[in-house]
Amino acid sequence: MATFDRGKQRLFLSLAIVGVVILVVNLGLLAGTDVPSRIKQISIPYKDKSGQDTPPDPNLPKLPSWHHDNSDTFEELASINDQHPISELMKKGDEAWNQYEDSRSMTFKETVRKYRKTYGRHPPPGFREWYKFARERNVHNVDDFTQIMDDLRPFWGVEPAEIRSLAAHMHEVDADGVSGLHIRDGKVWKLSNSGWRIETMSKMVQPFVSTLPDMDIAMNRLDQPRVVVPWDEMQRLLAAEETTRRVAPGALAEWSTNMTGFWKNKDPAPTLTDAGWFRAPGSQYMNIAKEGCPPESHARDGNSSVESAEATYKIQQGGFVTNFNLSSDLCTIGPEIQDKHGFLYASSSIVASKRLLPIFGECKVNVNNDILFPANMYYKDDDRYEYDSKFDYKWDDKHDSMIWRGVTSGGTNTVETYKNMHRHRLVLLSNGTVMADQKFRIMTQNTNQPGAYNNYDNFGPGEFALKHTDVGFTEAASCVPDCHFYDDVFAFKNITTLSEQFESKFVVDVDGHSFSGRWHAFLQSRSLGIKATIFREWHDSRLFAWRHFVPLDNRYDELYSILTYFIGLGKPGEPNKPYVQRHSFEGRKLGRQGSEWASKVLRKEDIEIYMYRLLLEYARLIDDNRDMIGYSGDGSELDKYDAKKPMSVANGGHA
Ligand SMILES: *[C@@H]1O[C@H](CO)[C@@H](O)[C@H](O)[C@H]1NC(C)=O
Ligand SMILES: *[C@@H]1O[C@H](CO)[C@@H](O)[C@H](O)[C@H]1NC(C)=O
Ligand SMILES: *[C@@H]1O[C@H](CO)[C@@H](O)[C@H](O)[C@H]1NC(C)=O
Ligand SMILES: *[C@@H]1O[C@H](CO)[C@@H](O)[C@H](O)[C@H]1NC(C)=O
Ligand SMILES: *[C@@H]1O[C@H](CO)[C@@H](O)[C@H](O)[C@H]1NC(C)=O
Repeated sequence: MATFDRGKQRLFLSLAIVGVVILVVNLGLLAGTDVPSRIKQISIPYKDKSGQDTPPDPNLPKLPSWHHDNSDTFEELASINDQHPISELMKKGDEAWNQYEDSRSMTFKETVRKYRKTYGRHPPPGFREWYKFARERNVHNVDDFTQIMDDLRPFWGVEPAEIRSLAAHMHEVDADGVSGLHIRDGKVWKLSNSGWRIETMSKMVQPFVSTLPDMDIAMNRLDQPRVVVPWDEMQRLLAAEETTRRVAPGALAEWSTNMTGFWKNKDPAPTLTDAGWFRAPGSQYMNIAKEGCPPESHARDGNSSVESAEATYKIQQGGFVTNFNLSSDLCTIGPEIQDKHGFLYASSSIVASKRLLPIFGECKVNVNNDILFPANMYYKDDDRYEYDSKFDYKWDDKHDSMIWRGVTSGGTNTVETYKNMHRHRLVLLSNGTVMADQKFRIMTQNTNQPGAYNNYDNFGPGEFALKHTDVGFTEAASCVPDCHFYDDVFAFKNITTLSEQFESKFVVDVDGHSFSGRWHAFLQSRSLGIKATIFREWHDSRLFAWRHFVPLDNRYDELYSILTYFIGLGKPGEPNKPYVQRHSFEGRKLGRQGSEWASKVLRKEDIEIYMYRLLLEYARLIDDNRDMIGYSGDGSELDKYDAKKPMSVANGGHA
């Protein structure tokens, strides 16, 4: 203790302040109030370097950040008004999330009212039981199931008997890549064309299957999504749906019990329609995808350009993604990334259809019409994908680096194609040797105006990559004719367990053959997830970019702009060299928010709640009587399940 230097003292002082703040925030949490509203109102006494009181940040207690350079001395930064675009993006992320929090229904009454207003129908039969189930499992947002409604909407334009028939029979030809789950008399009666995926789905439905009517579920057992209905046909189906909306008084909250056309072992009912599968592995997926796009979109009009696509989802400053949803809209950006993602030009298995098929899938691109359900990998206990806190150290004890491990999947690897596959591009981009003579755009702090930043186009990331990235393949796979062409290209790394990866502050997540099963665990960790994907999943609407994770363009062109922001770069005042202040506080905050949020909305219970709701809505769609049934009550009978209203600070939110 005698050799305690000034820098360390200051660090400890800072840590003490952090501790007090965390304590205050936690006390508030225990009191059960809503987090964002409460934090907004806590005033934190805070003095900057000159001893001046500064007003607290409206959103979060702003802590003094400190600079950590390699000589192990700590230098507090002057508290400047940081105008980096990322602080603005984080503020917007917070606002979007606050709005989401504030709009939640708290009572059954409110929930059914909102349902009818939003979808123009009664909730389906069984909705009361579902609501109880969800509340008992502490559902966080009881309204946020719009993905289900969007996925199922077009099926209102198809006869129930036709949906039942397709669902019953699609599993029958093994090569079509479909498994079947058959529910009879409140039990999973049978699985057909079985495998680990459908076995996992079968476990997922166990907690509520006893309340479900008979149904057949057809599940995609391939990695890649399946259905793209052409635009005009989709518009017809959606219009048909609108004509069926009604909120009739006296609807019966009961399922029909005399329906036919389910799958039977013997004496199967005839198939009413052909699924229309065609095979197209390795071909340009945009040829299939663009048919699902609006005629005036870039994917169809041939007028695509990087600039026009970028304008929809990212900013020039630093190249940061402002709209994560649109960053994977293939109708806009598809033509620009069709040669940069393995699924889009080198997929290993595509069995597709242009017909609207009731096929349940784990992921899809924006123009697919598969019905999303929570991916089996998120539910199955698999060490490779499950969060384990062992190496998930406190933020400040983690390495200042970005890690990624995986195999060379994503499509068929050949010597001609590999350089443009999405995983391979990431590995090459993070390789300091390969990057030695490359230039990238990052942002640099304006020397004359501290806190202001400009684009800087000549950043050579070689040295930075060597120091701050740890990205590599563990194994070569899917190569044609064999993997020897990788001998001088990649150094294969030892397997690093998922938990060991959390020794790094930044965990980057990119697609494989399809979505990445690591994502829930990455969010659960205190490390900060950086995410690029072209795929949609069940959880998308509950995850907020720049609040719970950092979005990354599928071309990765702003990767170094992101990393230098969080890690910092250079020293102030060095001529002709970029300087970026270190933003460790922001990184820690995002990592923590992601982790806290994942423990509320990505639990196994959340998967069950989603699946239950999905199967209720699906059950109504396949019911011959679907226009007449539904829950028509006012919701007052479930008052005791009302969620607790957030307490206001004035009522004693904090001590
Ligand atoms: C099922 O029952 C309903 C109501 O009793 C009846 O209208 C309908 O025709 C029946 N359907 C079949 C296939 O028997
Ligand atoms: C493509 O762009 C050109 C020039 O801006 C425009 O005249 C043309 O109408 C566009 N084509 C389509 C199909 O929108
Ligand atoms: C990085 O690139 C160099 C040069 O191409 C190569 O020798 C090395 O194996 C690569 N490293 C990794 C981790 O792939
Ligand atoms: C990889 O594992 C092997 C065998 O356990 C070990 O000898 C080697 O040192 C490890 N390499 C690295 C880079 O950790
Ligand atoms: C993404 O954008 C589409 C089209 O604008 C919209 O329908 C959908 O709800 C959005 N999804 C999310 C998760 O925000």
